Amino acid sequence: MDRISESVVKKDHLPKVSGRSVYVADYPTEGVLFGKLLHGKVARAKVLDVDVPELPEGYFYVDARDVPGDNNVNIVLDDTPVFCRETVEYIGEPIAMLCGPDEKTVERLRDACVVHYEEQEPVLDIRTADHVFFDYHFGHGDVDKAFAEADKVYDEEFETGYQEQAYLEPQGMMAVPEEGGRMFVHGSAQCAYYVHGAVMRVLGCGPAGVHILQDVTGGGFGGKEAFPSILGCQVAVAAHKCGKPVRCVFDRREDMEYTSKRHPSLCRYRVAVKDGRVTAMDIDVKFNAGAYSTLSAVVLQRGIIASPGIYNVPNLRVHGSAVKTNTSPCGAYRGFGAPQTFFAVEMMMDHIARDLGVDSLPFKEAHLVKQGDATSTCGKYHFPVPIPAMIAEVDAECDYRAKRERYARPQTGRYRRGIGMSMYFHGAGFTGSGERDLIKAVAKLRKYADGTVEILASNGEIGQGVRTTFPKIVANELNLPLEKVYYDHPDTARVPDSGPTVASRSLMVVGELLRRAAIKLREQWIDGVEQEVEERFREPDFMIPFYIDKFQGDAYPTYAWAVNAIEVEVDTYTGITKILGAYGSFDVGTPIDYNVVLGQMEGGFLQGIGYASIEKMDYDAKGRIRNNSFSDYLIPTTKDVPNLKCMLHVEKYPDGPYGAKGAGELPLVGAPGAYVEAMEQALGGVRLHHAPFTAEDTLAVIAKEGL
Ligand code: MOS
Repeated sequence: MDRISESVVKKDHLPKVSGRSVYVADYPTEGVLFGKLLHGKVARAKVLDVDVPELPEGYFYVDARDVPGDNNVNIVLDDTPVFCRETVEYIGEPIAMLCGPDEKTVERLRDACVVHYEEQEPVLDIRTADHVFFDYHFGHGDVDKAFAEADKVYDEEFETGYQEQAYLEPQGMMAVPEEGGRMFVHGSAQCAYYVHGAVMRVLGCGPAGVHILQDVTGGGFGGKEAFPSILGCQVAVAAHKCGKPVRCVFDRREDMEYTSKRHPSLCRYRVAVKDGRVTAMDIDVKFNAGAYSTLSAVVLQRGIIASPGIYNVPNLRVHGSAVKTNTSPCGAYRGFGAPQTFFAVEMMMDHIARDLGVDSLPFKEAHLVKQGDATSTCGKYHFPVPIPAMIAEVDAECDYRAKRERYARPQTGRYRRGIGMSMYFHGAGFTGSGERDLIKAVAKLRKYADGTVEILASNGEIGQGVRTTFPKIVANELNLPLEKVYYDHPDTARVPDSGPTVASRSLMVVGELLRRAAIKLREQWIDGVEQEVEERFREPDFMIPFYIDKFQGDAYPTYAWAVNAIEVEVDTYTGITKILGAYGSFDVGTPIDYNVVLGQMEGGFLQGIGYASIEKMDYDAKGRIRNNSFSDYLIPTTKDVPNLKCMLHVEKYPDGPYGAKGAGELPLVGAPGAYVEAMEQALGGVRLHHAPFTAEDTLAVIAKEGL
């Protein structure tokens, strides 16, 4: 193990476990108004009027008319309103915010508001939705010829559901008007500069008119990538109107019903096979975006780029679309579009293999990409693809091949077993040219006269460890003890824009900027004086430029890789599945702290297992999300998967700090493919097409198949 990988105590460990950390809800309440959103109650309607009760002194009703700038939240596009326009487009859409000094009174006033709607028929079904937000096509080769010449053509559909991020701390933002008219917005967020750009536009002020601080954040998992921009704008508008600080912290119910979740998907795969090999794939990927476009463009891009899996497909045609429905807008969640398509392609490969009379593992192995091969977008896998070695590691850990063969034989009795495997990548960093063209990250180091060094960057600690790993990198280059280097929560008034905390980019991209900055500082170091150095992102030379209009080039500089195996035992009396073991080999390059990375892999893998098995969320016939608490949306805990084994395989990336590459999202992506394949085996070889695959689904198969 490299020295940099040796684990230290996380810098935020003690304040967090001792309860001393100050989250947005913990700031003193003195002089701060409570903000409570009036959420729309129907999925699609014209809002005719709102009867607002008489407001006591010091209480305010804030809506779109109070927005001093644009009533649009800057995300990728700007169709998301701060407060609703003439219509509501989903249940929960914010119509107004009630503000005042006493929480119960604010709630009472909010609940006394009567909204008059002219209701319209909501569009809820992804299959019939006809408004397309985003639509992409790409591919290569001659797909029609390959289908015409095929021995056999497969045509199947796969579906995945919502997934709720279920961070411990719900969404919360606070806005404080400062002396001189500047607005200070702080709260639970992944991307301080995203909130900055959004609030500026809504207040109609310049960059200096507002600053954003990321508070201690109790988890994000993507759920705090875009949503805090919306809530940040709402509290900022409210504070602007009230002339006082306004804080809005969601309760769990609001958070689960109305904030962004993972996109449900519907994927159709048509696959041509000749002489036992896949010769073409014709893939249609559809994501349910919800009522506004938010991040769907980029989520969809990542999803469709991953849609042929990690297999060589000589002829490829991909169509992806994100469609509008009158439901809560979906957004980022760890994996960002890729878990959906990797599930579909892994199941598709499994079904083809079985139809050809071979096991899925050797069939997949025969199609694996390797270094130098073209990617789905005609870029290149520039670096080694360590999947064969990782399959061997997982096999050694759980005896995969032998169990796979054993469980394939006919089973009888109450308990039936199965094992399945998935293999996949996660494109490290932003998709396409975003890093080069949009983000243009800048990071700084400031050395004080006493020899301590402060990191100035905008990447937030969201549990992934950047407050520890960034200082480790800098301390390492400067030969300083770790206590001498620190990284505070970013405030846009103090730190440059090193980009958002997303896409598994922070450590790989910004960590490398900091490493280079530290080398620069070391070379210029003068004792006893204050010094500052800066580094800017430059794209690695080897990259084949990506063009979004053609959907061609290197979508990512490099890839993190993983192999997952999951072993299950189904109780055919109850439909309940016990997970006997979950085994993963993960390559995220050099771990910049072994325990931090291991924790990420274990937590992410467990989230993926939840997504695959028990995390079922849906809306009813009126478009209302039916699960709004942790008693009717279950997430797994360590007790559900006691035998979870993660191994780190290290394939160093030369352009990441000490060989590190993107880590955060990888562990979640592959679980559904492995889990559902295992369920197929335990259920006597049925072909399954959706995730999550729950106990109810299991019982239905048992009844249908007479198992
Ligand atoms: Mo992340 S899912 O790119 O916020």
